Amino acid sequence: MPFEGIYVPLLLPIEEIIDETRDIKTFRIRRPEGFTYRPGQFAEIFVPGVGEAPFSISSSPTERAFLEFSVKRIGSVTGALHRLNPGDTVGVRGPYGNGFPVEELFGRNLLFVGGGIGLAPLRSLINYVLSPEHRKSFGEVFILYGARTPKDLVFRWELERWEERKDLTLCLTVDEGDASWTKRVGLVPKVLEEVFRFPPEGWVALVCGPPIMIKFTIKALRELGFEGRSIITTLEMKMKCGLGKCGRCNIGPYYVCQDGPVFSCEVLERMPEEY
Ligand SMILES: Cc1cc2nc3c(=O)[nH]c(=O)nc-3n(C[C@H](O)[C@H](O)[C@H](O)COP(=O)(O)OP(=O)(O)OC[C@H]3O[C@@H](n4cnc5c(N)ncnc54)[C@H](O)[C@@H]3O)c2cc1C
Ligand code: FES
Repeated sequence: MPFEGIYVPLLLPIEEIIDETRDIKTFRIRRPEGFTYRPGQFAEIFVPGVGEAPFSISSSPTERAFLEFSVKRIGSVTGALHRLNPGDTVGVRGPYGNGFPVEELFGRNLLFVGGGIGLAPLRSLINYVLSPEHRKSFGEVFILYGARTPKDLVFRWELERWEERKDLTLCLTVDEGDASWTKRVGLVPKVLEEVFRFPPEGWVALVCGPPIMIKFTIKALRELGFEGRSIITTLEMKMKCGLGKCGRCNIGPYYVCQDGPVFSCEVLERMPEEY
């Protein structure tokens, strides 16, 4: 029987709220029993009296006790979420979407390229890959993450933890540095061309960020020799039902809420321009 939370929002209290940046907060919610999901899947979060919106599950499925959603404030639902406090209740409907093709990534080297809040879905997969039970199933891990300024980097404590690990390479960049910033300054696609020095064979690139960053990152990856099927990204189309019923997220033959939001570049290149 399908998990009941797919059809009916489960009302759950917020356990913790982490201020990530001036406009991004991470909400930690107890993981309901039976809520199984893949990295890259999303859920609809419902704020009573306001409405609901889709958000990637930013925590890894290997975290048994909680789910995390990292939310950028842009409008009515995200604004209402940002005004909530620990102990307040939200509705959670899901999980939805296809998620990352984890089994196809076994044994491959993984290049993660994230921009801004686009690190949220990648973080779920990164922490899945880095977990003690799964790390041996994957090859090299290279993470390139960029934000507008140092203050806009999300998951800062986790970036520090990743930086200390010997089994991955982390490269951070910002568009504009400040007096304290000692790392790279430059746009993600440009930095990618400078720092990624491996032959592309055996690598899969997983890309998420603002549409303009995705577009130029795919171009850079193509120039580095990546084939379309070895570039995977996740779309953030506007959605309503999440269930393949309302047609809001339709592009060509696809419903992004069900067939996506994760697509290979090979599939995206066959889609109509509207994505
Ligand atoms: C599969 C999926 C996963 C997502 N994951 C995350 C996540 O992890 N973290 C996160 O912060 N956001 C995520 N989003 C985007 C998030 O759903 C929107 O920011 C949210 O719906 C905005 O709701 P709102 O009521 O606050 O904004 P509204 O008041 O509805 O809109 C405010 C403004 O934002 C624009 N807008 C709204 N939604 C979108 C959208 N999807 N794309 C582009 N413009 C939009 C509107 O046109 C309007 O101009 C995801 C979206 C999808 C489809
Ligand atoms: S959001 Fe309704 S069909 Fe995809």
